[in-house]
Amino acid sequence: MSSAKPEAAGFSNVDSSQDQRHFVDYLDLVRSRKGVREGKELSFALLQLKPGDLALDVGCGTGYDVILLAKIVGEKGRAIGIDSSEIMISEAKKRAAESSNTLNAEFHLGSIYQIDFSDETFNGVIADRVFLHLEEPRKALGEIIRVAKKDGKGRIVTHDPDWDSLVIDSEFKEVTRKIVKTASDWLKNGTVGRRMYGMFKEAGLADVTVNGGAVIFTDYEPSFQHLELEKASKAAVAKGVISEQEQERWVADLQRKGEQGRFLASFTTFRVAGTRM
Ligand SMILES: C[S@@+](CC[C@H](N)C(=O)[O-])C[C@H]1O[C@@H](n2cnc3c(N)ncnc32)[C@H](O)[C@@H]1O
Repeated sequence: MSSAKPEAAGFSNVDSSQDQRHFVDYLDLVRSRKGVREGKELSFALLQLKPGDLALDVGCGTGYDVILLAKIVGEKGRAIGIDSSEIMISEAKKRAAESSNTLNAEFHLGSIYQIDFSDETFNGVIADRVFLHLEEPRKALGEIIRVAKKDGKGRIVTHDPDWDSLVIDSEFKEVTRKIVKTASDWLKNGTVGRRMYGMFKEAGLADVTVNGGAVIFTDYEPSFQHLELEKASKAAVAKGVISEQEQERWVADLQRKGEQGRFLASFTTFRVAGTRM
């Protein structure tokens, strides 16, 4: 059954997966999307980093963002990525070694629940698409706040989609609803996106802002992969909420829409920023 699980669910424990390479490739596919890259630039701007600053990317994956952050903080600054997956950290180190001018980028194996840095170390801490894979988001938020500098000198940015907000133009509305619910519920915290703003406020952060909105997907093939629609629909069959025939008809309908150039899906993402006082 677990093979039918949407792979996004497996980001809470990449190293225990049978197909670890899939997760690296999936992150590359997501990052290749124009809207995703634009969103990351917005996140970096919200961090308000300056040359010489210390930046932390928690759940850094393959480390691409850490290399970009290292460029922003410059040679007098330092950008550090941590991730709970050895596969991700070794891939990040390999890629950083291949790229130029990344002497101020480093990577460490570590958990968001216990960050191996002292209190008040970083000018900016970012976690991009990590909280949806966490069982204890409040505890994790508390830990990233702990390592941010105090007195208005430390910024925190998170970004997460809300999988319940996934809408797909399909001829089969009820089947779509069941597939979306299956995919969202398989994540540790598929709807955490909508909760982060409140959690930032509750944690006493200042200048809390939230932005984001609907990401629209109209290119069929890459969107189908990005949203893992085949796997999500098979997972709904495995769970017994739709039949195999419904799954096949659902996928065929989307494929037809793709061929006709009229595929459309969308979900909402939330980018939350705040300052530690
Ligand atoms: C969807 S990926 C996002 C990677 C990267 N931030 C990006 O935007 O490409 C989520 C990452 O969070 C990591 N992760 C999951 N649970 C974690 C935890 N408890 N502590 C640290 N990292 C974690 C995963 O290993 C994975 O690399």
